[in-house]
Amino acid sequence: MKNIILFLSLICCVACSNENRGNTAIPDEPFRPAYHFSPPQNWCNDPNGMVWYAGEYHLFYQYNPQGTKWGNMSWGHAVSQDLVRWKHLPVALLPDNLGDIFSGSAVVDENNTAGFQKGSEKTLLAFYTYNKDGVGQSQALAYSTDKGRNWTKYAQNPVISVQNGKPDFRDPKVFWYAPENKWVMALAVGQAIEFYSSKNAKDWIFESSFGNGYGCHDAVWECPDLFYIPPVGETKGAWVLLVNNSRNGDNSGSATQYFVGNFDGKNFICQQPAENAPALWLDYGKDHYAMVTWSNAPDNRRIGLAWMSNWEYANDTPTKNFRSAMSLPRELTLENENGTYLLKNYPVKELENLRGETSDFSTVKIAENRVIKNLPPSGVYEILLDFEKQNAQSFGFLLKNSKDEKITLMFDFEQNRFTADRTKSGIVDFHERFPAVTVAPFTAKNAYQLRVLVDRCSVEAFLNGGEVAMTNLVFSNEPYSEIEFFGDNVKVNNLKIIKIQ
Ligand code: FRU
Repeated sequence: MKNIILFLSLICCVACSNENRGNTAIPDEPFRPAYHFSPPQNWCNDPNGMVWYAGEYHLFYQYNPQGTKWGNMSWGHAVSQDLVRWKHLPVALLPDNLGDIFSGSAVVDENNTAGFQKGSEKTLLAFYTYNKDGVGQSQALAYSTDKGRNWTKYAQNPVISVQNGKPDFRDPKVFWYAPENKWVMALAVGQAIEFYSSKNAKDWIFESSFGNGYGCHDAVWECPDLFYIPPVGETKGAWVLLVNNSRNGDNSGSATQYFVGNFDGKNFICQQPAENAPALWLDYGKDHYAMVTWSNAPDNRRIGLAWMSNWEYANDTPTKNFRSAMSLPRELTLENENGTYLLKNYPVKELENLRGETSDFSTVKIAENRVIKNLPPSGVYEILLDFEKQNAQSFGFLLKNSKDEKITLMFDFEQNRFTADRTKSGIVDFHERFPAVTVAPFTAKNAYQLRVLVDRCSVEAFLNGGEVAMTNLVFSNEPYSEIEFFGDNVKVNNLKIIKIQ
């Protein structure tokens, strides 16, 4: 018995004290990200319950404690002081007789509206969906009075019951609406977002529904987020609604669209007209889904995180002990482009603390200097460059290895399309939907800035500070060790290759 206890406490120590930057102290293994969050083992999907409290960013996530495929949905848990180094904590919420624990959000109950607070420590409230096969989906509440370490499910759950005719009824994102001293919940319901409100976080009333005729409706809407954000350089803010859903066509499968408008505590009014307005996408890669934001990041920052996979093949990716990681945490900013508000997303500045040795190539004339060898052998690095189009028709580069596995990033200046081709990127045959060329439109300019972050199984590209983002998984059999440029008459300035440590 004593041995068993010792063994169990050893396991617990390992599970509870792992630092993950991604993953120091977690056994290394092929494709285990070095600086993206991934679970210590087993399956994960959506980020959940992102809240900041007492100096810690909490990240909960959809987790299967029993295997590397989707199932037994629970909330895994980790904390970080800087969004970069993560400490794994024990699983926060496990399934019970009301169902499995699907996605949701968390807040600090500053005014003790729910009445759970003991002493001076504020209560954290978590809102999640119960999914019970054959019964339906309902919304529930749990709370923690010890900085998120232990969670108690509210005894009178669910707080919003299963509703007939609404089989897809999930992913509550709750925030405090100060003008009316109430909580607002955005909920994904079929192909719409419903808004509910509550004074005490327990009794909820329906306010309105948004979505009919707006944006992309290729599949059910999931994981919404609604927040107020002042556009850069302006004082009057706007409201942004994130909606995650699958799309058809280019970049098919899981993706994040967004709407900009106004919210008056009851209705969301979109700035885009309903008819003929193309959907606005936050990322054009195949592997950016379920993005939601921290409810109260300090300094009024709006920081989001996405699951870095795609439901088309997420259960089949060729990793062993874990499956799936998160995107880099990204700061969202709203910019007024000639009267239209556009949302940019760019890796948080804290990631720059991981920068190591830099190779600085200053100015490279592409026609003369096409190949750069000896990229960091770890396969974990950033590429930064500015380029001037001059009279080029296209420009780009391959990242490749000695097995001729490659991902090709290309800018087509005639069609203003940025593409990432991973059809020959390494292991691609585990699912027919994996080999892909993803496409993003971009605004024509004379000069561009590009930042590409490469980790053990991902390539994330950001154009012009996050105007365009493109996130794609890649499973190469060895790290990409060379850059090969193509396209004449493009001047590349300030090329830097930075090792990430
Ligand atoms: C999105 C999603 C959510 C749901 C969760 C289940 O990826 O389908 O709508 O709550 O995953 O794991």
